[in-house]
Formats: sequence, C-alpha cells, structure tokens
Amino acid sequence: MTEERKTIVNSWNEWDPLKHVIVGVADGCMIPPPEPAVECKVPIDSDMKGKWGPRPQDTVDKANIQLDNFAEILRKRGIRVDRPIPLDFSQAVKTPDFETESMFGCMPPRDVIATVGNEMIEATMSYRCRWFEYLCYRPLLEKYFKEDPNMRWEAAPKPRLTDRSYKEGYLSRVMTIEDRLKLTAARDFVTTEVEPLFDAAELARMGKDIIVQHGFTANPAGIDWLRRHFPDLRIHAMNFPGDPYPIHIDCTFVPLRPGLLLNNPIRNVRPEHRKLFEINGWEIVKSAQPAHKNPPPLCYSSVWLSMNVLVLDPKTVCVEASEVHQQEQLHKLGFEIVPVPFRDAYPFGGALHCATTDVYREGSCEDYFPKQVEGF
Ligand code: NVA
Repeated sequence: MTEERKTIVNSWNEWDPLKHVIVGVADGCMIPPPEPAVECKVPIDSDMKGKWGPRPQDTVDKANIQLDNFAEILRKRGIRVDRPIPLDFSQAVKTPDFETESMFGCMPPRDVIATVGNEMIEATMSYRCRWFEYLCYRPLLEKYFKEDPNMRWEAAPKPRLTDRSYKEGYLSRVMTIEDRLKLTAARDFVTTEVEPLFDAAELARMGKDIIVQHGFTANPAGIDWLRRHFPDLRIHAMNFPGDPYPIHIDCTFVPLRPGLLLNNPIRNVRPEHRKLFEINGWEIVKSAQPAHKNPPPLCYSSVWLSMNVLVLDPKTVCVEASEVHQQEQLHKLGFEIVPVPFRDAYPFGGALHCATTDVYREGSCEDYFPKQVEGF
C-alpha cells in the first residue's frame, strides 16, 4: 500500500513527519584502497589501517538483514522506502585526473544525496573512491524527476580530485590524537581550496537555516557553493573542536525538533556559534554516553553512532536497539522510541541517519532562527 504513495520530493528539516525515504544497501561494499582523503580519516588505532578489498560476505549478509529490517519497520509505519541499486564496487575508478583501484558502496545514502525542499542534489563528494557513487541513486532520481513535476534535480560540480585538492603530507604531519585535535580545532583539514567539495552528510537542515560542518569532507569553497546555490537560505559553517576525524555532522550536531538539538559532549558547539541558538530559544542538550566502548570491527566511525538517530516526526525517533542510554535520554525529552537493531550495519558507513536520505517529509520551509548573528 505504501508503495503507491504519490511521489513528492520535499524535505526542509530533520524532524517533520517522514513519508518517503531511501534506505541504503550493503551489497558488494569495499574497504577502499588508500588515497589522500581516506588515509587521514582512518583512525590511528583502527583495525582498518592498511587493509583494503571486499568486506567479508558474512558481514555483508548480516548488515543487509538489519538494513532490510529497518526498511520494513519504516514501511509498517506507512513510510515509503526505496533502495539504491548497487554497482560492482570492486571496479577501478578512472577519470582523466585520477585513478583508484576500487569504489566504496551504497550503504549511506545520506553522504551522497542532499534533499533541500523540492531539490535533490548529488554532492561533489571528496573521496576518489566515491566519485561515481551517485550512479546508484540515478534510477531513483530519474523516477522521482518523472513522477514529481516540481522536483528539482541538481548535481554539484564534479570535482577533479587531483593531488592539488589535498594538502600534501597532511597525514605525516599528524602523529598523535593530541596533534590531530590541535589541527582540527584550528580548522586545518586535509582538503585545499582548489575546488568546492562537500559530502551531503555535512548538512544539518533546519528550514531556512542549514548548518554545514567544515571538516575533512567539506571545505569553505564547498560551503560557499552551497551558499550561492541557495540564495534564499542561510548557510552557516561550523566546526567542532574535540573531533580528531571530523567527517559528517550527524554524530556531532543533531537537530531533533524545533527548539531542541543534541550535541556530542566532547565536540562542543563553539561559544561564538552557540549564540544563534540561544537568542532564538533553542536548547542544546549534550547527548547521552554511548552504550559501547568500541565501534564494531572494520568500522570507520566512532562509538558516537549512538546519537545518529532518525527522527520520524517531532515525537518519534528511531534509535539503535542496544543504545539504551540514548534511548533513555530521548524518552525523557518526550520522544516515543523505535528501537532498531543496526550495529551489524555500522561498518558499512554509519547508523540510522547515515543509512537514509529523505525524499518527503510533510511541512514547509519555516524560519526557526528569526534573530541572526552577524558574520555567522
Ligand atoms: N565521523 C563520525 C561519524 C559520522 C556519521 C564519527 O565517527 O563520530
């Protein structure tokens, strides 16, 4: 029944009632070979350091079981769910400017496609191995374009990703976590300003205001591109000292409903950025501690996937089933919790927010921040 829901592309924020979503697929996912952007992002103590190639099939199967179950949970709540079409990710990527020996996968749609109002944008991406990942979403975007006459389909300029797009020797300069923290607090990241770069998962959408994390996977040129692309919206760049690997905003800064957002307690909103939220009556709550001491094996992300929740409407939120502290906190904040087992899918690119991209949430573009702060 839900499959028959008319196609409407529209989503302005992270909390309005969700009606149609894309959920990723783990098939064929690869651990990509080293390349300038990937290398600095693999944590020093990660079991993935120096490894690349296909992920073990049993881990792919387990991840797909949880992804399919998540899709079913959403469908049962009346939400239409579409899935991307995987490619052969073991194939090499070659453009006139670079070559790399494999692709990545299509588990986290949030990384690749940003939906802003009636527009779906294919992000530039910032890893070479993810350059062609948008192709997994093309069958869906082509369909939405045909079915919704108001849908806008956009692609940000494909980056060249030559060596000029990355700071030479960035990795070798960085030896310890403390060194990394100093660099990231000083907004010294791996990419240069040669061309606009952003992954879609750096966006946190809040109606007329969009926060974009400046970090390893979005540079100021990319944020400037978004600003010029959306002249009627307000694009704010933020970074969060305390994160040695700042990649994707949704384990750091998570809007939950108008007036309320979660902030990672070790990646604090900077004082100069806090003001925008305070003067508009927003509460910034420090998220609960993760239930786990370590991420699962072969996982890029931190234990803070605990706060990577998917809000279904301002009173309902999907939280990973074992993340009991996060569930308890959100329950106390007035949410009904939908527990979703998902740790087997984490290594494929993240948790419940990462694993989805909005197509349609009810609601329109509202101004939640009528008082603005100059220069931010
Ligand atoms: N880079 C983030 C994950 C974002 C989904 C983290 O590891 O905390």
